[in-house]
Amino acid sequence: MRLRTVRLQGHDLVEAFDGAHRSDHATRFVGAHVRVLPGARAAEIGCGTGVLSCLMARLGAGEVWAMDVDPAAVALADEGARRNDLPQVRTVVGNLLDGVPADPPLDVVAAVMPQKPSPAAFSVAYAGGEDGADLL
Ligand SMILES: C[S@@+](CC[C@H](N)C(=O)[O-])C[C@H]1O[C@@H](n2cnc3c(N)ncnc32)[C@H](O)[C@@H]1O
Repeated sequence: MRLRTVRLQGHDLVEAFDGAHRSDHATRFVGAHVRVLPGARAAEIGCGTGVLSCLMARLGAGEVWAMDVDPAAVALADEGARRNDLPQVRTVVGNLLDGVPADPPLDVVAAVMPQKPSPAAFSVAYAGGEDGADLL
């Protein structure tokens, strides 16, 4: 695990990352555009390091569910939430939104899903099936 600071919408966030999970240009794109009203109930599907989940909490979300199928990613998201002192970020190992209580409804769902064409799962973080769109 390594640490770095990622700046999104003027917020400096500590990101715990490794060789498989790290924020990239797609993270920065979503991070530049996501909007959260104070107290919102938010989720991030495929949270990876969870830096977008931390951003949504920093922007004022009351509760953020950071979901990922990969336990290694969730461990990084846990570390990031702890280092950014954001207890409102709750992490779950699971598929898509499995395990997120459906009520009350979510106000915001952010996602940067695997999207690279790959018939073989070369990377859980990026492989999106034959045409890259399995999860889109
Ligand atoms: C391209 S990475 C993006 C990570 C992070 N959102 C970011 O912007 O840096 C995609 C993430 O989706 C996760 N993932 C893949 N399939 C998933 C699924 N079915 N449900 C939840 N997460 C999934 C991967 O483990 C990976 O962490």
